[in-house]
Amino acid sequence: MTIQENISLKNYNTFGVDAKANTYVDIVTIEDLKTVLKSETSKSFFILGGGSNMLLTKDIDAMVLHLNLKGISITYETDDYAIVKGNAGENWHEFVVWCLNKNLGGVENMSLIPGNIGTAPIQNIGAYGIELKDVFHSCETINISTQEKKTFSNEDCNFGYRESVFKQTLKGKYIITSVKLKLTKRNHKLNIAYGAIKSELESLNITNPTIKDISTAVINIRQSKLPDPKKIGNSGSFFKNPIISEEAFIKLQNDFPNAPHYVVSEKEIKVPAGWLIETAGFKGKRFGDYGVHNKQALVLVNYGNATGKDIYELAKLIQQTVFRLFNIKIETEVNII
Ligand code: EPU
Repeated sequence: MTIQENISLKNYNTFGVDAKANTYVDIVTIEDLKTVLKSETSKSFFILGGGSNMLLTKDIDAMVLHLNLKGISITYETDDYAIVKGNAGENWHEFVVWCLNKNLGGVENMSLIPGNIGTAPIQNIGAYGIELKDVFHSCETINISTQEKKTFSNEDCNFGYRESVFKQTLKGKYIITSVKLKLTKRNHKLNIAYGAIKSELESLNITNPTIKDISTAVINIRQSKLPDPKKIGNSGSFFKNPIISEEAFIKLQNDFPNAPHYVVSEKEIKVPAGWLIETAGFKGKRFGDYGVHNKQALVLVNYGNATGKDIYELAKLIQQTVFRLFNIKIETEVNII
């Protein structure tokens, strides 16, 4: 285990922002992780996974622990289901492909989500009608201050829409080292209700889809709308879709009768932030090296050498404009560092 100094994090965050880490350690075993947590007590730590859900607006003074714990295995199975364990540093999509190749169902709708498996529970990743919590069994963690292991069950994680206990009360207290999912071996529960999946399967001429077909459909949809972080820096959805009261929605509908929306509960309505941002005129807008993606207004992009500060200023301008026009607050989904 080597502690490196003054390392650029440009290749370790999908926004491709050139912030620096004062000290940086590549963590490949749990033993290394425990050792560094125990020996560097004077330091504060910054846990880095796939770097796909953060905007670095400054250099990192803390010691960056880059979690590269690898390995995927089935730890238990019956005729109907398998418990699959992925170590934190596995790339999420490669994990999905591993599962599909073993005909394990439940993660196909979440194909191509950027990031690592260890960070997936923190924001309860989701796409096309499925969230991680729907297949999550448990995760193993290390307590940062005591170095003790602790297992969190699905219930312990207190999952919500892009939320979990790891973003709330336990923020900065535990490091997720592996995640277990419960996936089906047969009688897969296909989730194709989402409009875009239905029409993509139709255009592929598939009437009786397998889990691999659904994955293909999701990959096609994502590639048509979302920029590839390897080509254009981005962090997926920058904002969460706001959930507003029925009363506030009625007001919105008065001015915008065609506002898209989903009913969340009797009194709560979710409005797509992408639509609010597009209606506010930001879709496809470019300011120097950064801007708003032209096919999905929820995604902010770095065309090359933008700084985290540039992108954060744009995010604030978008939030202020959306609030002024619609009286709706949109929160960032991405962590601002
Ligand atoms: N819309 C617009 N303009 C835009 C983008 C969207 O008007 O520029 C409208 C669409 O027409 C549609 C609605 O907004 O009526 C919803 O759009 P879409 O289906 O693309 O989904 P989303 O709400 O924008 C969410 C997730 C995505 C996930 C998709 C599919 C959040 C914050 N985002 O986006 O997650 O892939 O649904 O399930 O919940 C991510 O978190 O990084 C991410 C990409």
